[in-house]
Amino acid sequence: MKNIKLILIFFITLSLTVIAQKKSFKERADSVLALMTLEEKVGQLVQYSGDWATGAETSRPKEGSDELIRKGKVGSFLNITGVSKIKKLQKIAVEESRLKIPLIFGLDVIHGYEATFPIPLAEASTWNPALVEKSARMQAIEASAAGINWTFNPMVDIAHNPRWGRIMEGSGEDPYLGSVMAAARVRGYQGNDLSANNTILACVKHYAAYGGAEGGRDYNTVDMSERNFRDFYLPPYKAAIEAGAGSLMACFNEIGGVPASSSQFLMTHILRNEWKTDAFVVSDWNSIGELIPHGVAKDLKQAAELGIKATVDMDMESNAYYYHLVDLVKEGKVDIKFVDDAVRRVLIAKFKLGLFDDPYKYCDEEREKKTIMSKEIIKATKEVALESIVLLKNEKNLLPLSKKLKSIAVVGQLAKSKDDPLGGWSQKGDSNSVVSILEGIEKKVGKEIKINYAVGAKFKGNDKSGFKEAIKVAKKSDVIIAVVGEGRYMNGEAASRATLDIPGVQEDLLKELKKTGKPIVVVLMNGRPLTIPWVQENVNSILEIWSPGISGGDAVADIIFGDYNPSGKLPVTFPRYVGQVPIYYNHKNTGRPHNPNDHYTSYYMDLENTPLYPFGFGLSYTTFEYSDIKLDKKEIKMNETLKVSVEVKNSGEREGSEVVQLYIRDLVGSVTRPVKELKDFVKINLKPGETKKVDFIITPDKLKFHDINMNYVVEPGDFKVFVGTNSIDVKEASFKVIE
Ligand code: NOJ
Repeated sequence: MKNIKLILIFFITLSLTVIAQKKSFKERADSVLALMTLEEKVGQLVQYSGDWATGAETSRPKEGSDELIRKGKVGSFLNITGVSKIKKLQKIAVEESRLKIPLIFGLDVIHGYEATFPIPLAEASTWNPALVEKSARMQAIEASAAGINWTFNPMVDIAHNPRWGRIMEGSGEDPYLGSVMAAARVRGYQGNDLSANNTILACVKHYAAYGGAEGGRDYNTVDMSERNFRDFYLPPYKAAIEAGAGSLMACFNEIGGVPASSSQFLMTHILRNEWKTDAFVVSDWNSIGELIPHGVAKDLKQAAELGIKATVDMDMESNAYYYHLVDLVKEGKVDIKFVDDAVRRVLIAKFKLGLFDDPYKYCDEEREKKTIMSKEIIKATKEVALESIVLLKNEKNLLPLSKKLKSIAVVGQLAKSKDDPLGGWSQKGDSNSVVSILEGIEKKVGKEIKINYAVGAKFKGNDKSGFKEAIKVAKKSDVIIAVVGEGRYMNGEAASRATLDIPGVQEDLLKELKKTGKPIVVVLMNGRPLTIPWVQENVNSILEIWSPGISGGDAVADIIFGDYNPSGKLPVTFPRYVGQVPIYYNHKNTGRPHNPNDHYTSYYMDLENTPLYPFGFGLSYTTFEYSDIKLDKKEIKMNETLKVSVEVKNSGEREGSEVVQLYIRDLVGSVTRPVKELKDFVKINLKPGETKKVDFIITPDKLKFHDINMNYVVEPGDFKVFVGTNSIDVKEASFKVIE
């Protein structure tokens, strides 16, 4: 009898465990929700910043963080780092609050925690999604070891305007490249198992179309057609959600008169109804509070009502939910369902992260010590930096420089800077761990080549007093390497510029150096496309290194001296002058495309239409030859696929990697279509003389767009397909889609 009882107990326990394990995240979240008071529910929707601010301070409740946590009045913090601090707060949440709900800790891990990778725009220049995924994976490993379980990244805003400082945080101008990179980053941060202790929740931002800010001025108005929005701006957010991103951030801006944080269209309609995602939405810093200056809410209470009804689930720093949501529900102005749905989504994320099972899983001091700035992560920062550098010009193969030169002049404040290579949003990035460009070069050449350094010019101000010394060192050297561009804080948030020139007197310095007659290599360090027609015309070689992160100096030295063959390609168009902005490769044809023989066509009287460097552009130390395009069919039905093949030969003398790019053009549609659209690409490595065949498959999805009735369809008709080394130098073929 006793045995039978024991067996019975064993089986009941077993089946309860199985049921518990089988419970979905939603069921588990609901079981917590059922225990919560209204005040505790609202608490889960409140987020405050900890150690520093990434926006203007708002008038927060008087109780300190500990007390807020104890009372269950806060669900998340941002800007708190390090295991000891995070563990202390988590302990209060899970040991001293009534329901013991764990906190989630967010941080802008945009291109690294402490080991700083190149900025995201640079990473996009690798055109290597596997590498970008690896970078995000490494960032997650490092950040999670420091207690962080949520990054406010990937930033996937398409940007056509380099005056917008935040272009550095994204993947440039193209929806396809942007989508591929967005998905890669989500995979990297979240890994295969979000409940592992070294994966973190991704937050796709800034939903949506923040990159369309008028005039490129940060936080400015966005207004665009729904078709433009859906075809060009929305795809990367969708790709990130399809890759499993667990959260989104609502942007600051309005679109067509409705600020994102109150937008039923963006949140309810697209996110919840069309995409059917349970990813939760966090506001941007005080973006619910900003519904007041936007002019759609008369006070913070109305702002809270608009935010929650739009399904903006978590309020970052505006206090709107903290002070008003309980009352709004009690007064019957907000249905409790809005609050419950929001809390459920937040709890689901906490369950997905495994925080209910082990709230301290990111809080291991030993792991923190071993992981931060580990050799493996630092090695990856160099790998990414190498692939992100774009060779823009190389007259008479000046680069790579010979290691047999006698002397080199290295000039520019940025050459010696150990701070600026970190770029914007570099979190715990420490300038002591940065290899400056000068250090990288010195390390590479040892005592073999004499390096003569001079500041020459700073990236700010009009001081030309350093020119003399720079000219002196240039005169006594065989070659000049001039590192010019933007400082660390000249791009990123609130860093819009009205001009795109190389700032300060740096270009004047280049003009003086040119007079010495010595060959010049310009190394550009910047977070956005700059207008550099004079430089293109007058110096021998140009390397775009962006803000290259901690290993930038080593990567640049490898490339300058030929230990690595550059393979980066621009993810964004470089204008000649700021007046051309917005300029992007996938523009429409217009009714009057420019014809030099016809005055009444679309052009500037004082400027060419063409960019300085087109989207997808980047040179190599070797050369590549493309064969003509072969198609497996000339005609396909709307649901069929088409194979596009091309052979690429390394016709030079060095091994190198090439990004083979495929574009299409839909010639006649129910609505106008761009002159070219990137639809696929692949990066291949070729030995000298080697030829590889590249096959692309055009699937119906690649031909779809929003038609005259806003349906997402393939339309029958004539198409062009282009394959080439950038968006302009391409081979061309034609095919037809039939019904
Ligand atoms: C404001 C920025 O717009 C956003 O990108 C960032 O994630 C938050 N501040 C938090 O720092």
